[in-house]
Amino acid sequence: MCAYLLGVIMSLFKKETTFNSLPEHIAIIMDGNGRWAKKRSLPRSAGHVAGSKKFKEIARYCNKIGLHYLTVYAFSTENWKRPKEEVDNIMNLLREYLKDAKNFKEENICLKFIGDREPLDEDIKLLIDDVEEESKNATGLKLNIALNYGGRDEIVNAVRKIVKSGISADCITDETISQNLYTAGMPDPDFIIRPSGEYRLSNYLIWQSAYAEYWFSDILWPDFKTKHLDMAIEDFNKRNRRYGGI
Ligand code: FPP
Repeated sequence: MCAYLLGVIMSLFKKETTFNSLPEHIAIIMDGNGRWAKKRSLPRSAGHVAGSKKFKEIARYCNKIGLHYLTVYAFSTENWKRPKEEVDNIMNLLREYLKDAKNFKEENICLKFIGDREPLDEDIKLLIDDVEEESKNATGLKLNIALNYGGRDEIVNAVRKIVKSGISADCITDETISQNLYTAGMPDPDFIIRPSGEYRLSNYLIWQSAYAEYWFSDILWPDFKTKHLDMAIEDFNKRNRRYGGI
């Protein structure tokens, strides 16, 4: 409670950040929770708790600065290989977040989950349906949570849908693929942020990121602050985006 009040008081004195322009769609790989916990001799679960808090703070901030789209990588199709205890821990954090759905109404955030829902627990699937329905008319940030998401899995799924639709091979275009991905109807991410000192995409939005700009940093996700996002956006605004042209 004290920390919350302190945060509110500090935010009253904090200089408002304004940007010349913002990316249209930021995608973040929330990496480094485990190492953050290890550095503090804490269990990995503590890292995910801290990572989940950080996710809420950054999503709120993105909404405040007027970003249109934010997509975060919460759980990949490969993350099932982790010990069951850790998988359960991440799923429980998601449950908690979804049950706290009143915040979406207050914050005017439109929430959507991308990924294969089939293997998720029934109660999580129901919570996702409810929250997506309740927040669908929100006009603020469009927040996508990638859950049981894999870029290759997404493309395979899209190809299956396209083949089943009976469309002739010659009529298939980039747009056909895009319209059959989980992100159909959304602009591609133009800015991808990966903290924690790893320099790879890890099967994240591999089709959509064709022309994205990247920002890497050694900061572990739970240590990532709004000032780091400001720095990343300022950096993005200096990039010369040519899309293959000159
Ligand atoms: C990667 O760090 C992080 C994950 C696989 C899980 C991310 C999940 C959260 C931040 C919580 C999600 C909750 C909500 C509400 C969206 P890592 O564990 O692989 O870190 P390491 O590379 O340091 O081990």
